[in-house]
Amino acid sequence: MVRPRVEVRLDEGAVAVAAVDIVERVVALNPHAVLALPTGRTPIAFYAELVERERTGRIELSQVRSFNLDEWVGIPSTHPATYARFMEEQLFSRLRNRPTACYIPDGTAADLDAECARYEIAIREASGFDLAVLGIGNNGHIGFNEPGTPFDARTHVAEVALVTRQNNAYSFPDGQPPSRAITVGIATILDSRSILLLATGASKAAVLERALAGPVDSQIPASVLQRHPDVVIIADVAASACLSRKL
Ligand code: F6R
Repeated sequence: MVRPRVEVRLDEGAVAVAAVDIVERVVALNPHAVLALPTGRTPIAFYAELVERERTGRIELSQVRSFNLDEWVGIPSTHPATYARFMEEQLFSRLRNRPTACYIPDGTAADLDAECARYEIAIREASGFDLAVLGIGNNGHIGFNEPGTPFDARTHVAEVALVTRQNNAYSFPDGQPPSRAITVGIATILDSRSILLLATGASKAAVLERALAGPVDSQIPASVLQRHPDVVIIADVAASACLSRKL
């Protein structure tokens, strides 16, 4: 088994630089690359770095297609906490040239299962992800694949774990995230040609150690990344504090 490669950087800013270096290489080799993109606190510096490089001409994203990993169910796209809004604010509206297509699941669809099927087909028609950029939840989730999600799951409606809702309460004016979200499944993520997981801050240290050094276990969904042949983890010093030097 090829182990995920772990790169440790000093802080969030250095993680962002190293992560965008990888995106830059992927897009230079394939300007039509298909990217899976995360939201949350972790990728904010990453998107700032990506915007900076795009605006200064170091990276061209206009032919890229992006798929967001997830979206809350039941809140309109005008709501400040939707991931659609997050992506506009953090990335798309700040670029000189937007990607060809930027897909985000529609959490307001009348038929959510049909929306999940449509999203999965769109990913397949794009030939899957060349690079999936992930964060990691404090409980080991990737996307909104919470503990216990089968590894063969495709895009589906997930029940969001209580701890995940608590961790995301900050972005909701009423402090109440929805209890469900659409997420790209673990199997869809594992189909990616390469995977880049970003982890910053001390709150991720214990779960990152369990995901990388513990057994592959659906209770720690990110542990399944041990089975993928091309995974890079970029963590800051705080998030990598529990990792042994052997990794
Ligand atoms: C969000 C996503 C989640 C987050 C994870 C970490 O699109 O896919 O898996 O990456 O919850 O969130 P932060 O970065 O806020 O700690």
